[in-house]
Amino acid sequence: MTAVDGRFDTALLRQAFGCFPSGVTAFCGVRDGSPEGMAASSFTTVSLDPPLVSVCVANTSSTWPKLAALQRLGLSVLADEHAPVARSLASKSADRFQGVDWTATESGAVFVHGATLWLECAPFKRIEAGDHEIVVLQITALAMYPDVSPIVFHRSGFRELLPGA
Ligand SMILES: Cc1cc2nc3c(=O)[nH]c(=O)nc-3n(C[C@H](O)[C@H](O)[C@H](O)COP(=O)(O)O)c2cc1C
Repeated sequence: MTAVDGRFDTALLRQAFGCFPSGVTAFCGVRDGSPEGMAASSFTTVSLDPPLVSVCVANTSSTWPKLAALQRLGLSVLADEHAPVARSLASKSADRFQGVDWTATESGAVFVHGATLWLECAPFKRIEAGDHEIVVLQITALAMYPDVSPIVFHRSGFRELLPGA
């Protein structure tokens, strides 16, 4: 085991966290008439009643402060064909949504077409947590497409689920 008095090298921790496979979400909303958003693999389901989910955002994120002011946010659980979308929504490009097939609801939530799940959310709670913030969101509407296979993020790469045996 590698242990260093409660402090770990960041690169080592990144590698360790990367052993945990996760889905990838697009966390997006409309701000001043334009879509804003980011890729987030830290999505977690939290509570059934009330219906809550969470995303962890880095304190260094320049996108989160823009999303934080919005009344409604969209979370799209990305499909296996969405690796380019995930990369684009994490890029430093001025227009992250170029080449992304997206739609906005009247409430201002932004969703990616072809995703396996859309969750329209309202801000619920923000919790400081080290160099990240845990953003708890209350689900206000959803649409699911269970036959769409989700993308998997594992060890810094995108993978696809194999069909069940
Ligand atoms: C697959 C993937 C998952 C990511 N997950 C998160 C995440 O959960 N939280 C986070 O703060 N950033 C995450 N990022 C990074 C953001 O998408 C984005 O690159 C980062 O916030 C920097 O951009 P910004 O300054 O516009 O926010 C992820 C990136 C990728 C490619």
